[in-house]
Amino acid sequence: MNVLVIHGPNLNLLGRREPKMYGNQTLAEIDEMLRQEAAELGMEVRIVQSNHEGVIVEAIQGALEWAQALIINPAAYTHTSVAIRDALVAVRLPAIEVHLSNVHAREEFRRHSFIAPVCVGTIAGFGGAGYGAALRLAAHLLKAGG
Ligand code: DQA
Repeated sequence: MNVLVIHGPNLNLLGRREPKMYGNQTLAEIDEMLRQEAAELGMEVRIVQSNHEGVIVEAIQGALEWAQALIINPAAYTHTSVAIRDALVAVRLPAIEVHLSNVHAREEFRRHSFIAPVCVGTIAGFGGAGYGAALRLAAHLLKAGG
């Protein structure tokens, strides 16, 4: 079972970026936790972070070659990107949307996601732990047949 994890813009700054909102964990720590969790679940993970919309679109397209599921925190592109949404629809891989913060408890503009309607589901508000939960849910989905 191969899962591609995609982190969107500014998530490379986790740990120092608005820690009250996003926690103290760095992205490297989250990624390490994901690799450990994947090993325990007998899964393979590849992890990509980009601040560029087109790079994220290409990563989603590239997932067709390798992954059976996607975990994506599109960050600010959640609220703006038709291109990322279209890429997810195009590859037709099951995707789980993750947000560290509870986007529904923040500014009005964060309540709308272009991505959520084309995902299996969304995890928001649990900090870095949301990614581990998403990985376990991806394993569950794939065992159940996608
Ligand atoms: C975020 C929420 C987005 O609204 C924001 O633009 C981010 C991070 C989160 O993980 O909580 O960059 O996706």
